Amino acid sequence: MDIRQCREGDLGVLERHMPSPGRTRRHVMRFETQQRGLSTFLVAWHDGTPVGTAQILWNGCKAPEVRDRFPDCPELNGLGVWPPQRRSQGIGTALVRAAETRARHKGCPRIGLGVDDENHRAASLYLRLGYQETGCHYLDRYHYLDADGLRHEVADPGRFLIKQLAEQPN
Ligand SMILES: CC(C)(COP(=O)(O)OP(=O)(O)OC[C@H]1O[C@@H](n2cnc3c(N)ncnc32)[C@H](O)[C@@H]1OP(=O)(O)O)[C@@H](O)C(=O)NCCC(=O)NCCS
Repeated sequence: MDIRQCREGDLGVLERHMPSPGRTRRHVMRFETQQRGLSTFLVAWHDGTPVGTAQILWNGCKAPEVRDRFPDCPELNGLGVWPPQRRSQGIGTALVRAAETRARHKGCPRIGLGVDDENHRAASLYLRLGYQETGCHYLDRYHYLDADGLRHEVADPGRFLIKQLAEQPN
């Protein structure tokens, strides 16, 4: 498996293999954020097929209640492995480690991530990988466009975890 930064030419194949829900162009939005220098959009490839994505938001979590408490803490966001049969094979772990390596190379002493209160499996994976509870609970707000183009606002309750990166060999 190969993990690398998304390129413009990857967007079509990404959308075909890891389709965005409804009319939201998730990969395009993430690529545009990367183009603005605000993120690094990572894609995991297996035999020429994209099987997972993650992005590092260098300015941190967009929720003000997290950002105020943890300024200068980049956020690992949008981790996903697709299709579901690809899960539990180490792809998610490899993406998390690749993001941590990039953050370490940038000199970041820590990296954080948000996990939905209902997503117990993802939370236990992050805790196993060394992320620690911060006690910071917040609403993860985002929107998506359904198949008819209707905009839906979502606010998922979740919590923010942090991993110290300094002096931890990857
Ligand atoms: C959460 C998610 C990204 C994790 O990715 P993943 O590729 O399944 O994660 P990993 O395979 O690295 O680790 C998960 C499990 O596989 C096991 N595992 C890791 N490497 C393995 C390997 N080589 N062989 C067998 N099992 C392995 C781990 O022990 C872990 O066990 P679990 O199933 O009890 O949790 C993925 O499940 C996913 O896309 N979920 C839906 C979206 C989501 O919830 N995203 C997170 C938002 S916070």
